[in-house]
Amino acid sequence: MSISLKDKHTFGCAVAAKEYWEMSSISEAIGALKQWSGVPYLILGGGSNLLFTQPEIPRVLAVRMLGLELLKETKSYVEIEVGAGVPWHPLVMQTLQSGWYGLENLALIPGLTGAGPMQNIGAYGVELRQFCIGVHVIHRQGLKPQFLDAKACNFGYRSSIFKTEAKDQFLISSVRFRLPKVGFHKPNTDYGAIRETLMSKDIDPDMANPLQVAEAVMYIRSSKLPDPNELGNAGSFFKNPIVPIDRVEPLQQRFPQMPVYPVSEGFAKLAAGWLIDQAGWKGKSLGSVGMHKNQALVLVNYGDASGKELWSFAQLVAQDVQEKFGVALEPEVNLWPAQSNEVPIYRLQEKQL
Ligand code: EPU
Repeated sequence: MSISLKDKHTFGCAVAAKEYWEMSSISEAIGALKQWSGVPYLILGGGSNLLFTQPEIPRVLAVRMLGLELLKETKSYVEIEVGAGVPWHPLVMQTLQSGWYGLENLALIPGLTGAGPMQNIGAYGVELRQFCIGVHVIHRQGLKPQFLDAKACNFGYRSSIFKTEAKDQFLISSVRFRLPKVGFHKPNTDYGAIRETLMSKDIDPDMANPLQVAEAVMYIRSSKLPDPNELGNAGSFFKNPIVPIDRVEPLQQRFPQMPVYPVSEGFAKLAAGWLIDQAGWKGKSLGSVGMHKNQALVLVNYGDASGKELWSFAQLVAQDVQEKFGVALEPEVNLWPAQSNEVPIYRLQEKQL
């Protein structure tokens, strides 16, 4: 019997899975992986970073392992192991209320914990890799549970081995964190909007406690980003492009107000939201699809858009940014079925800017 995935992913498109299994333990997961060895299937978490470009999918394995285990506690930190199926935002709030800090800037990110290491979730100057010390995985062919430490996960900007070298090789069953305790952690309040929000509440950003920072983050996110329960979306649709500095300079001359963030020797990160906004797409829509009015990086399903329509619109936007700025945009959201494996949809043009 086919199952609707409309309420199992945040774009809310009409998609049906011919077979759908939920796995709430490692043994159930191994059983399912064994049964479907050699046939295509999708491992689904909270569906908050996923676009189905086809209305039908043969098989879905939904990760639902729950639980939080305190593995170790010292004067300065705790180590915890969290089931991949644990909803992310409630976990952030639970850790903060327990006096275990670090995840405050990652409050209100939709989705489940297991998806966190996949794309090394990040927001407001903090990334999961700062606090994740490893993940438990099951190899999808070998069916053996194993632990990969943070180094093996090879975390990068919105990236990890699970999106690159080891794409589709593992199922993440739980995630291990080391979180500092009170007195051993200074929240990151460097991000302009966080400082402004705290100051507007008469809180000195350099003295703010992690719960106050989480509240500021929640306030900013709710004012800028559409709530997926109200409007179909998957947060930022594209990654912020990382571009060689010699291509950035001519752009900076043309657009002195363009945000540029240095990342490593010879490279800088540009703001995809700014580029899309400047190209005139902010708040623009076509049928039921558009770029959000408050954040041009967020692709929105205003009603009954299909995944194919959303993807076509995204490509149109990327193509226009490529033409106007000579910069390629790469989706941050995972596509099913995969398209051209994380390779930018449009290559950086070699022509003079
Ligand atoms: N901007 C515009 N117009 C827009 C949107 C942004 O001019 O419509 C400008 C902003 O004024 C700012 C710059 O672009 O100067 C960057 O914008 P913003 O601070 O809103 O952040 P972002 O780079 O667009 C990233 C993450 C978000 C995360 C925020 C805050 C990516 C792909 N996105 O967005 O993550 O919440 O920073 O840290 O890295 C997500 O991954 O789904 C997500 C929402």
